[in-house]
Amino acid sequence: MNKKAVLAVIAAGALVVSLAACSSTRTTTPAASGGTSSKGALVGIAMPTQTSERWIKDGAAIKKDLEALGYKTDLEYANNDIPTQVQQISTMITKGAKVLVIASIDGTALSTQLDNAAAAGIKIVAYDRLINGNKNVDYYTTFDNYKVGVQQATSLLTGLGILDDSGKETGKKGPFNVELFAGSPDDNNATFFYNGAMDTLKKYIDDKTIVVQSGQTDFKTVATLRWDPATAQKRMQDLLAKSYSAGAKVNGVLSPYDGLSIGIISALTAAGYATNALPVITGQDAEVGSVKSIIAGQQYSTIYKDTRKLGKEAVTIVDNLLTGKKVTVNDTKSYDNGKKVVPTFLLQSVVVTKANFEDVLVTGGYYTDADLK
Ligand code: GAL
Repeated sequence: MNKKAVLAVIAAGALVVSLAACSSTRTTTPAASGGTSSKGALVGIAMPTQTSERWIKDGAAIKKDLEALGYKTDLEYANNDIPTQVQQISTMITKGAKVLVIASIDGTALSTQLDNAAAAGIKIVAYDRLINGNKNVDYYTTFDNYKVGVQQATSLLTGLGILDDSGKETGKKGPFNVELFAGSPDDNNATFFYNGAMDTLKKYIDDKTIVVQSGQTDFKTVATLRWDPATAQKRMQDLLAKSYSAGAKVNGVLSPYDGLSIGIISALTAAGYATNALPVITGQDAEVGSVKSIIAGQQYSTIYKDTRKLGKEAVTIVDNLLTGKKVTVNDTKSYDNGKKVVPTFLLQSVVVTKANFEDVLVTGGYYTDADLK
């Protein structure tokens, strides 16, 4: 190495040291002692928002498990604001993170950061939501999102009595008035959920067992930007005013996420639906307020995704990457991000209703009985 190069290395080292010195945010923690040389490496964890309980649990679980393995972590939440997330990821790169675990807000907005990360040798793990349009996404871990949509629609059909508990048709033909909601159009998962649900409902819409009075069935029309509960509440209000003012009742609502279900329930009760006579309303994430609503007989179902398992899977991928071990995946065809099919580890979700919440959520240790009081 010539003198100039040596000086450059020293300067870079000094920069890292000074950045490390000023980076002691609430969520950046020192590594536990011991372990191999990659132990102690910094892992950036970029989460979308703290307004939804699940991301708080996800972030906390990943941070805890990585630190138990001896890694440093930088956990950041972006308030569902894309420029904030872009900035947070850029800072993680500057701080010298070796792996980034990213649950994106907009799956297409991070390409520059991913290119910069790859140029610096940083590995990228897409967490729960796929990052689109960039070849530098190394791995992805999530739940089987298409199946989540199938489960949501199936529970809607069960709640309406079109299917029995074993999934067999009961012969009930309705017609049932159902309105449809989808998630954020910039979240890759939202399309998977909606496609899974609509493939399941199509037959019943075609034979008019289910009638969408508003006529709104197209993904773009029923999507809810940033998964915002207030947006869903407003759209439900509008649907009630436009399509149900003559006295027809809504019998079911396909809702892709508990937060939206809460907004939808508010619109329905404000329009005069009694809390014990609400339509069959689905959800996702088993958030505590929504599980309470299920127990109270308001929301009908949710989809439980054990964030502890997803967090553990992400940690396993990170650890294998940093210790040079083989990363295990179980899906190499479903998640094409437009530039590559991203190797994925898929987990399975469970439908939760009033009938099984105790078994699944309490016996499973996700909640205590006291949490649900
Ligand atoms: C999705 C996620 C869902 C739900 C939703 C809103 O990407 O898969 O579980 O959390 O975002 O936060």
